[in-house]
Amino acid sequence: MATRGGFSSRLGFIMAAAGSAVGLGNIWGFPYEVGQGGGAAFVVMYLIFCFVLCYPVMVTEIAIGRKTEKNPVGAFNALGFKKWNFVGKMGIFSGFLILSFYNVIAGWAFGYVYEMAIGNFAIADHFSEFVQDVFKVGAYGMLFMATTAFVVSKGISGGIEKAAKFLMPSLLIMILLIVGYSLTLPNAMDGLKFYLIPDFSKLSSEVIINALGQAFFSLSLGMGALITYGSYVNKKENIVSAAAFITLADVGIAVLAGMMIFPLIGFMSGGTMDGVGSGPGLIFVTLPQIFGTIGGTFGAIAGTLFFVLLCFAALTSTVSLLEVPVAYVVDEKNVRRSRAVWLVAGAIFLIGIPSLLGNGYSDFFSNFITYPGSETATDFLSFIANVANDTLLPLGGCLIVFFAAHIWKKHNLDEELSHGAPNYKGSFLQKYLNFAVGYLAPAVLGFIFIITVLKTYFGVDIF
Ligand code: PHE
Repeated sequence: MATRGGFSSRLGFIMAAAGSAVGLGNIWGFPYEVGQGGGAAFVVMYLIFCFVLCYPVMVTEIAIGRKTEKNPVGAFNALGFKKWNFVGKMGIFSGFLILSFYNVIAGWAFGYVYEMAIGNFAIADHFSEFVQDVFKVGAYGMLFMATTAFVVSKGISGGIEKAAKFLMPSLLIMILLIVGYSLTLPNAMDGLKFYLIPDFSKLSSEVIINALGQAFFSLSLGMGALITYGSYVNKKENIVSAAAFITLADVGIAVLAGMMIFPLIGFMSGGTMDGVGSGPGLIFVTLPQIFGTIGGTFGAIAGTLFFVLLCFAALTSTVSLLEVPVAYVVDEKNVRRSRAVWLVAGAIFLIGIPSLLGNGYSDFFSNFITYPGSETATDFLSFIANVANDTLLPLGGCLIVFFAAHIWKKHNLDEELSHGAPNYKGSFLQKYLNFAVGYLAPAVLGFIFIITVLKTYFGVDIF
């Protein structure tokens, strides 16, 4: 049996799990989803989902992982419910899909480090050409995947933990500095209004579906990433408080990313907020502009530093995405860790190629599918993101909490959660989590899953 390793300290686990959560989802995904989803109304839904539904899912995932010390498939087997290991398999599949497109975006961010370093702020106007240069961005993506594989091959405390501890705080400081700067720009307040004052007439089933998908994606839930990380956690760890910290850190960074982007869009558009709904390219177009307004060497240094840190945030997430299938192969198939890492990383890179080509280079992948009831075609990358983030992750989360409460049973979950949290039993939090894990989350997630499938894939909107 290969040795599994583990986190060396309490802080190490929290930083690694927060590192998994904080990534492109917060800085790239969140602002663009807010932009497309009607501003503050989306933000409100997102916040509700994170705290009310996702936090209980997170606690449950970590508890299952720590109890079993296994990968997401092995965990269900170890609890004695082999029939349920399809949930773990589905999670591994989602992880494959997510990493395949995530790595493409990470490759863009990586490429931007160079563009900023040479002071090419005008790339903001040439973003579509940049992503169509598939050999260049493909090479960046390949380098990014190789870096991820290298970190994962170093094992838990050696690679993942060390990197996360130092880089996460640096990113936070950098974001705070940029927020401070962008708030001083003219028309910044128009951006903030769009971002913070909700107009609930903008709520639709689509906004709800996207907000839930974004919450799951951003918190790394529903695919067993936190079952896997939980499997490396010490029994003395307080899971409920660790999960609260991770959730707050993740939501906090996403909210700050919005404070960084929207004032800038207010500034660039002279207050009209034009271009706010531009989609996946949003940060790649707006951020170079902010560094451009700073200008000169200083702008180049700030821009380079920012994209370096963004790459590290992405790296601590790609590492957790790769760790899931790797842990599965190491535990269940008894393959050596280093070999498992390179095999899986190579396969995922190849699966990502259509996502790389679908941004204008290949017509076929750029207009991959037209959903029923929609007039415009969706590109391959967005399609995979819809399938994985908005559909599979909430379904996975729904099944995980249902399983924990009704198959594995609540008292076992409570027992696991009270290790490291002596006051947990009998607390209000315990009552809430029992209710949320047992009823609220399975019901709401199950319901939204049905709406999502009907709306996205069949064009039936029941609202
Ligand atoms: N949470 C990560 C991000 O926001 C992405 C991720 C999803 C990582 C699922 C692991 C599992 O960037």
